[in-house]
Amino acid sequence: MGTESKMQHVSETGIKTGLKTEIETEIETGIETGIETGIETGIKTEIKTGIETGIKMEIQTEIQIQDLSFSYEKHSRKKGRAEIVKTDEKESHMVLEHVSFSIQQGEKVGIIGSNGVGKSTLLKLMVGIEPVSIGKIHILGDEVTQENLARIRQEAGYVFQDSESQLFMSTIYDDVAFAPINYGLDQEEVERRTMDALERVRIAHLAKKKIYQLSGGEKKLASIATVLSMEPKILLLDEPSVALDPQNRRNLIRVLNDLSMTKVIASHDLDFIYDTCDRTVILDHGTIAADGNTKELLRNKELLERNGLELPLSFSR
Ligand SMILES: Nc1ncnc2c1ncn2[C@@H]1O[C@H](COP(=O)(O)OP(=O)(O)OP(=O)(O)O)[C@@H](O)[C@H]1O
Ligand SMILES: [Mg+2]
Repeated sequence: MGTESKMQHVSETGIKTGLKTEIETEIETGIETGIETGIETGIKTEIKTGIETGIKMEIQTEIQIQDLSFSYEKHSRKKGRAEIVKTDEKESHMVLEHVSFSIQQGEKVGIIGSNGVGKSTLLKLMVGIEPVSIGKIHILGDEVTQENLARIRQEAGYVFQDSESQLFMSTIYDDVAFAPINYGLDQEEVERRTMDALERVRIAHLAKKKIYQLSGGEKKLASIATVLSMEPKILLLDEPSVALDPQNRRNLIRVLNDLSMTKVIASHDLDFIYDTCDRTVILDHGTIAADGNTKELLRNKELLERNGLELPLSFSR
């Protein structure tokens, strides 16, 4: 090979090697960038999905109870946190102790347990009738505090165990119309809601009757109507079937089952819970003894008896 062709060969080899290196580098960089972008996109998508799912879960949790303890004894505030004042250790009685659970949108939850275990107290705490001092309750994302009570009570309708506490106007109509009027609805809407609520519980014919003239069962139905007229997102019912005759009881089961909102029902009437709730929480001495599928729990004779309860009548016959 002559000198000229040798030089040509060297320069061709140089160009080729240079090109190869450049192509290889380009490919490597391309792959690396591709991988990096891929990873970044993947991470971004993961994070986005995570956040979205989190938000969804947050929205779907309508009632959240976190480490709730309660005593009817006096409370004091120490370092911004409430604590129970125990004047006499023997007399101090915790009604609820470290109770935590949450209820999702549309769930129908029965709260059962023997007398004095804290069912009514738990419901009262949810709507701020008793003050939450130890632990937290969130209703539809709002913490149950004095400042949030008006909003919470607009969204969560509570029926007292004792109807006398619910009814304070002179006639049934006035009591059932009270909340819709208070929320500033126009007269036509107030009337529609009031009559609809009364018709649902089948006491429209008693609309103008004085409260003091009502029977116990009629008062119960009127109390339930006062809450239905608010068309709340959450229904909290304390012993709704007490004092109802079989026909009105059956009708109430049908009315409740036709309503799709979240429901929490405290009751000793386990047949009523069986017919209206998918999930049941058993309270025992202020703590949760069981929380699960109603059909499973209410067929568990041993579990019920251990908690001072008996099988629903329809199973024990
Ligand atoms: N206003 C109050 N002041 C002091 N103690 C109270 C008050 N209300 C209830 N208690 C006590 O708190 C405990 C829980 O009462 P709560 O009414 O929550 O029970 P419950 O499970 O609803 O019972 P029941 O099945 O009889 O309705 C009981 O020991 C009761 O005596
Ligand atoms: Mg009670």
